[in-house]
Amino acid sequence: MAKEIKKIAVLTSGGDSPGMNAAIRSVVRTCAYLEIECVAIYRGYQGMIEGDFKPMNARSVNNIINKGGTILKSARCLEFRTPEGRKKAHDQLVKAGVDAFVVIGGNGSFTGAMIFNNEFDFPVMGIPGTIDNDIIGTSYTIGFDTAINTVVEVIDKIRDTASSHNRLFFIEVMGRDVGHIALNAGVGAGAEEILIPEQNLGLERLLDSLKRSKKSGKSSSIVIVAEGDKIGKNVFELKDYVEEHLPIYDVRVSVLGHMQRGGNPTCFDRVLASRMGVKAVEALLEGKTNYMVGIRDNDLILTPISEAIKGHTPVDEELIRVSDIMTT
Ligand code: F6P
Repeated sequence: MAKEIKKIAVLTSGGDSPGMNAAIRSVVRTCAYLEIECVAIYRGYQGMIEGDFKPMNARSVNNIINKGGTILKSARCLEFRTPEGRKKAHDQLVKAGVDAFVVIGGNGSFTGAMIFNNEFDFPVMGIPGTIDNDIIGTSYTIGFDTAINTVVEVIDKIRDTASSHNRLFFIEVMGRDVGHIALNAGVGAGAEEILIPEQNLGLERLLDSLKRSKKSGKSSSIVIVAEGDKIGKNVFELKDYVEEHLPIYDVRVSVLGHMQRGGNPTCFDRVLASRMGVKAVEALLEGKTNYMVGIRDNDLILTPISEAIKGHTPVDEELIRVSDIMTT
């Protein structure tokens, strides 16, 4: 029979994302509501290995729902990838009387949790927190909505100056393996072209499209480039290439970088995080383990972590079609 869960730990791991604090708050308050003890683990798995724990109560998470980043800090921990590191982490959890943990993070964090669960039969639950929205088993990850709204706001501003000067801008957005940010923010901001890792449009098509834009009377253009794009040139090389082949264009580059990971979470991300935190704690208390909480058709669902870490969510083909139509 599964051991009764009386104390749950919560940690954030991997790249941070806006809304992680709302998820921490939700886990802590759900524990308080259900009269379960809760401890926070600082600095992700590194803090687990070092026993960097702090008891939490409902008041410990006052005034954080609106804050970006993570109050628990985050880290990418190499030591947790080793059996010795995980053994140290397990010893710390046992010493602190922790019966289960909730990890808020992405693929790498979940893989660590799954291995840990397999090695020590220790109950774990994942909550997807990443701006990339690339995790299988959920239509939305915490932080994605905030990130695309941030990107759209910035592109709107760049468009102002682009059109004043009749310029072409290449704007690089995050998305190492996937183009969800690029595609959604690109459609939302009315980009001329969107270059994503899933689709290699090719340099010829890019030049053709830019020629068509000029011919049709567009004075300025915005091209969104996901950082993991496969066209074979980075944004600066793309600028040089276009200026060489289409000298009519005055080109500028803007790399948005880590500003996409910051800022106050949107209402959507706060609500999503609050719902997922409740579900994660309740699922653990029902005896479920090694799952990730997700959302589909507005219902919360559980997906085995072993499934959630298999690759990345594909981009929405329909949205690619919409984008193609909008750029005519
Ligand atoms: O995982 C989210 C992500 O934002 C990626 O899109 C990006 O490539 C990466 O994190 C950057 O990570 P770091 O902060 O470690 O440089």
